[in-house]
Amino acid sequence: MSVLLLGIETSCDDTATAVVRDGVRVLSNVSTNQDAFHAKYGGIVPEIASRRHAALLSAAVDDALSRANVGLDELDGIAVTAGPGLIGSLVVGVAAAKALAFATGLPLYAVNHLHGHLFAAFLERDEPPPYPFLALLVSGGHSQLVEVASPSSLRIIGKTRDDAAGEAFDKTARLLDLPFPGGPALDALARDGDPRAFAFPRHRPDPGTLDMSFSGLKTSVRYFLETPEGKAARREDVAASFQAAVVDVLIDRAARAIDATPYEALVLSGGVAANTALQSAFVALGKRRGIATFVPERRFCTDNAAMIAAAAERRASIARVDPRALVADPNLRFN
Ligand code: KG4
Ligand code: ZN
Repeated sequence: MSVLLLGIETSCDDTATAVVRDGVRVLSNVSTNQDAFHAKYGGIVPEIASRRHAALLSAAVDDALSRANVGLDELDGIAVTAGPGLIGSLVVGVAAAKALAFATGLPLYAVNHLHGHLFAAFLERDEPPPYPFLALLVSGGHSQLVEVASPSSLRIIGKTRDDAAGEAFDKTARLLDLPFPGGPALDALARDGDPRAFAFPRHRPDPGTLDMSFSGLKTSVRYFLETPEGKAARREDVAASFQAAVVDVLIDRAARAIDATPYEALVLSGGVAANTALQSAFVALGKRRGIATFVPERRFCTDNAAMIAAAAERRASIARVDPRALVADPNLRFN
């Protein structure tokens, strides 16, 4: 029997809805990007994000259903991101999902946004990643290594001590005067640069752990750009050298984790998983160690609602909530 879920994701600045069958087949994946509204401020403005969600979400739900050619009465449940994220953004999605659940009587599933990223690697794939797998989850708000023994057994084994990898990309992009959002722009610029042009630091805060750190790297790029050498440097080379440092730290941490514990697969996820240099280094690591790698399609790396439905399907028994009890939680814990 197949399970058809509507996914709703509004934790940050993407108003996203999707219809997914069995946590794998994406019948529709709608995402209204708000970049144009935030670009002039150089970053996401929470109040603008929540107002845009409120204006767009209802049409985005209709859009996901009509593109999937599915009626509300054909759904088996509604999955929504309950946190972590921006509170003003989360409440819009949670309120809509609760209203739909009350109106239809359908089961409601509350999903942790980060679990969504982890299960993005299952979307549109005939062979899912085998358990246990190690996930490198790198986004704008988080950078962590997660051991996934089963859909219900997830453990963070390493994390950033300061900035997330995506945050480092965004802040460094701003130093390079790149347009918002910075990560994809820096990735594009770095393609024409020499990753060995400048030796930026690779911080591993404590050799005994799998933790990482990116704030020192961003600061060293800032100081470098103020020196005569930095002022004369090609921006492409600075971008490529910065990106190489981030990728080295992430790959080093993942390599250490798989050398310490046997895993069946390696999964890359989160917005930064869209980075071309990181994807190639990740696949190369898997090849060197003889472990299968799983990288989501680009549209499933950055925030989307299909991944929220995928996580709800896999964690259905844990994720199911009473719609009267669900509240958005900006600091929702990982487990
Ligand atoms: O997962 P995501 O869409 O939102 C969060 O949950 O944070 O990740 C967004 C982050 C941003 O920091 C963005 O700059 C970064 O992912 N990002 C990239 C690329 N595409 C998105 N960073 C580096 N290279 C990319 N191609
Ligand atoms: Zn995300």
